[in-house]
Formats: sequence, structure tokens, C-alpha cells
Amino acid sequence: MSLPDLTGKVAVITGASRGLGEGIAKNYLARGMKVALCARGEIPFAENDDILTANFDITDEAAVHQFAASAAAKFGSIDLWINNAGVLEPVVKARDLSAEQLRHHLDVNLFGVLYGCQAYLQHVAGRSGQGVLINISSGAAWGGYAGWAAYCMGKAAVDRLTETLALEELENGLHAYAVAPGIIDTAMQATIRASTPEVFPMVDKFHEYKNNDLFNSPDFVADHLLMLSFDEAAKPEQTVVRLPAEKA
Ligand SMILES: NC(=O)c1ccc[n+]([C@@H]2O[C@H](COP(=O)([O-])OP(=O)(O)OC[C@H]3O[C@@H](n4cnc5c(N)ncnc54)[C@H](OP(=O)(O)O)[C@@H]3O)[C@@H](O)[C@H]2O)c1
Repeated sequence: MSLPDLTGKVAVITGASRGLGEGIAKNYLARGMKVALCARGEIPFAENDDILTANFDITDEAAVHQFAASAAAKFGSIDLWINNAGVLEPVVKARDLSAEQLRHHLDVNLFGVLYGCQAYLQHVAGRSGQGVLINISSGAAWGGYAGWAAYCMGKAAVDRLTETLALEELENGLHAYAVAPGIIDTAMQATIRASTPEVFPMVDKFHEYKNNDLFNSPDFVADHLLMLSFDEAAKPEQTVVRLPAEKA
């Protein structure tokens, strides 16, 4: 992997209290990057000159913009913004999905992402130089999964949003990607494996991933995100990207 020296580069990562977001943050800090991290729950990194942390819900639009302003005030230019925070639930058949459940889900997985995109594109447009926006999507954006109607709808919408922003904001220096990261063994996977086959018929497949350790590691995903952000030779042509399986 041919990455330039990324020491001092600044990345914002939402949903960094655990799982993929925590893993990406660890990887970037080990490379000498500076990170701004947020989540509702406790963030397992102490603040210092290279780390900013903030606790808020990404459904709070004003809080997302305040976070972007704090990151810019502390670090200056933000080179990379990763909208990673997300939820899977509700896992129910579409016929049982209530409007309230769907609204709550999209508040996080779509509107929360939109607020992050808007905060970052304002930042990029307001300064000179390029910026990279990555929205963490899913294979569930590419087709339906029984039991995951809300998740599939939200992630598909994130892909279309990202494609639209890529067209609209390139002239302002924003490069936008929606990235399906593969399957990573996080709390979200534990939730998936806890589903019953009645609502989520593919559950056995996810037990198989666990039994055979077929996951992508957070480091693998973190490195790929850096490659597509900062390695000119690895920049994908398309906006919607699916990472390969690490252990294929
Ligand atoms: N794991 C996989 O196999 C997989 C596959 C494809 C895509 N993804 C995507 O990868 C991303 C990370 O997932 P993960 O597997 O790491 O899940 P996870 O372990 O459940 O972590 C989700 C993160 O999002 C944060 N979050 C959730 N709701 C939030 C809210 N309303 N406001 C602020 N932060 C919020 C959580 O923090 P708090 O709860 O502390 O707020 C946590 O840090 C998600 O977008 C997911 O859809 C995961």
C-alpha cells in the first residue's frame, strides 16, 4: 500500500465510541494524524493536542455544526470527514415497520449523515484546498435484505446523496465517496447475530462469518479509506465504492 506521509493530516470520525469508528481513529492516530471524534457514549480516547472529542447525538443538526466548528478551531483545515455513526435497528419485517421507527432510523442514518455532509462541505468551500468526504454505507444499499427495510432504505439514500454531492461540490474542492466497508465484527454484528430467522432469514450466514472469522478488520478498512482519500493512484472513478474482503 503506497500511502504518502499523513502525519498532521486531520480527520473527523463520527461514531467513534466503539466498533469501526474506534478502530479507524486508533489507526489514524498511530500514523500521526489528528482526529476529531464524536458519539453519544464515552469515547475511549483522552483529549490532547491531537485529539478532540465531543458527546452529542448526530440527529442534533446544530450540535453537528458546532462540532465541525470546534474541530476547525482546534486543528485548522479538516482534510477528511468520515460519517461513520449509524444504527441497524429496527430489524422487523417491512409489514411491521412503523412510520415512527422508520423516522427515528432515518434521523440517524440519513439526516445525521446529511448534517455531517453539510457541515463539512461548508468548511471545504470556505477555505482553499481539497477535502475528502466519506460516508460509510453498506452492501445493504445495493439490494434488499429481508428484515432490514429501514437500514436498506437509509443506506441506499446515503449512496444517492453522496453521488449528488460529488457532482455538485467538486468545483468547491470536495471529493465525496460512499463506501461499503465489508463485514466487521462490531456490536452491530452481535445485534445481527442475535436476530431470529423469522425476521432475519440470513442470520445463519452471519453466524458463519463469525465461526470462520471472515471479517474485515478495522485496520484494513481504515487503510483503504486513506488510500482512496490520499493515494492519487488508488482514487476510484466511481463515487459508490465497495471494499474487497480482506480474507478472500
Ligand atoms: N459492522 C459491519 O459489519 C458493518 C457493515 C457495513 C456497514 N457498517 C456501517 O459501519 C458504521 C459503523 O458501524 P459499527 O459496525 O462500528 O457499529 P457499532 O459498533 O454499533 O458502532 C456505531 C457507532 O455509531 C455511534 N452512533 C450510533 N447512533 C448515534 C447517534 N444517534 N449519534 C451519534 N453517534 C451515534 C455509536 O456511538 P454511541 O452509541 O455511543 O452514540 C457507535 O460509536 C455504520 O454506519 C454501519 O452501518 C457496518
